[in-house]
Amino acid sequence: MRITVVGAGYVGLTTAACFAHLGHEVMVVEKLRHKVELLNSGKVPIYEPGLEELISQNLSVKRLFLTTEIEQGLDFSSVIFICVGTPENPDGSADLSQVEEVARQCANIKSDYKLLVEKSTVPVNTHKLIKKTLERYSKDTNQSFEVASNPEFLREGSAIEDFLNPDRIVIGVESQRAKEIFLELYKDFNCPIIFTDPSTAELIKHASNSFLATKISFINMIADLCERVGADVKLVADGMGFDKRIGRAFLNAGLGFGGSCFPKDLKAFIKIANSYGLDFGLLREVERINSQRAINFVQKVKDALWNIKGKTLAIWGLSFKPNTDDIREAPSMRVIELLLKEGANLRLYDPKAALNFSRLFPSSERILYLEDKYEALKGACALLIITEWPEFENANLETIKELLELPLIFDGRNIFDPKRMQQLGFEYYAMGR
Ligand code: UDX
Repeated sequence: MRITVVGAGYVGLTTAACFAHLGHEVMVVEKLRHKVELLNSGKVPIYEPGLEELISQNLSVKRLFLTTEIEQGLDFSSVIFICVGTPENPDGSADLSQVEEVARQCANIKSDYKLLVEKSTVPVNTHKLIKKTLERYSKDTNQSFEVASNPEFLREGSAIEDFLNPDRIVIGVESQRAKEIFLELYKDFNCPIIFTDPSTAELIKHASNSFLATKISFINMIADLCERVGADVKLVADGMGFDKRIGRAFLNAGLGFGGSCFPKDLKAFIKIANSYGLDFGLLREVERINSQRAINFVQKVKDALWNIKGKTLAIWGLSFKPNTDDIREAPSMRVIELLLKEGANLRLYDPKAALNFSRLFPSSERILYLEDKYEALKGACALLIITEWPEFENANLETIKELLELPLIFDGRNIFDPKRMQQLGFEYYAMGR
């Protein structure tokens, strides 16, 4: 099939690369010329395992094409995936101006039939607004448009794997014709495909992300309780997780959730509920608990060190999660802001996100970026682990102990076993254990 993908962000690039990989012909429309040039030269502006290779391969076999011209993209196929950004407005609601722009541009294209597919996360009933926009701006009354919702559930760091092997595919359609297009498009997938109306599909996405965020805040409260009563949150999560109705996933306590989705989607979902006269207080509490994580963590460091002022601390991990260079809403930002306020000197290390982080926190007398995790430990009186990169889990504990001035570790992601750390002579502070 021929597919057009508008927007070359995380979702757009992964969608395009994976559909091309599955044998479809895909054209990506991206209005930023430098991005298109970079992609055409075989480079990807983000770090996502496997994505660069997949894009290069499909560009070279001419199954993937890039353009800055929306008209070219809209001429290319009758199935248009909308993968543009839906950033946060100052009031927390979703800014849908880029979605509207695509709809307006689409309305002007002459064709028999166009299926516009929402892939980006959008508020429930956005499809109605897209449809209205198409009708309003279309000069040709014979033109037939449909709007469908096919939310994407991929995670950064495992985007390709998630796209190609999803737990389910959700598709909100209003006609048999649209349904058949999707059945053809996803014919190689073995997972359940759930067909709904578009409003339900839109809601499934926000509800899923909000529920996962709720699981994280729930376990983080349990972690705080565990610390007070001397229990182990990891074992509590295991014990809960064996219950199939609960499940173990997303019950990892720590510094809480960040990234480009959960924080933004929660705010938007609260706003959406509000706009329909409902107070989703539960989700406000999820946000509150999450925003407290970095504060509690720094307080823990402060309590243990007595004074932070003038002390040098090593930081491992800046990205909001492992296997990405993305620092959007990363807990590291809050932690580092607070530590700087307390007067600490910082030695920072991250395998991929240091460059992005240094744009917000430039190196200075008090902020030093190191290229090696062990280098970061030299002269530091404690190590703070903010992101659970696999290379930290496999680090040599003896070397850590030798290099640190004091054998002190504050582990914001529970990557080590507290008993073992104690045996090795560390003063080890975990989250909820
Ligand atoms: C999320 C959704 O999982 C995905 O379905 C959606 O399409 C986009 O948003 P992503 O933000 O890429 O994906 O990462 P995810 O793995 O979900 O983690 C989000 C945040 O939650 C990270 O900061 C992570 O560290 C945190 N997290 C996750 C926890 O603190 N504990 C957990 O148990 C799981």
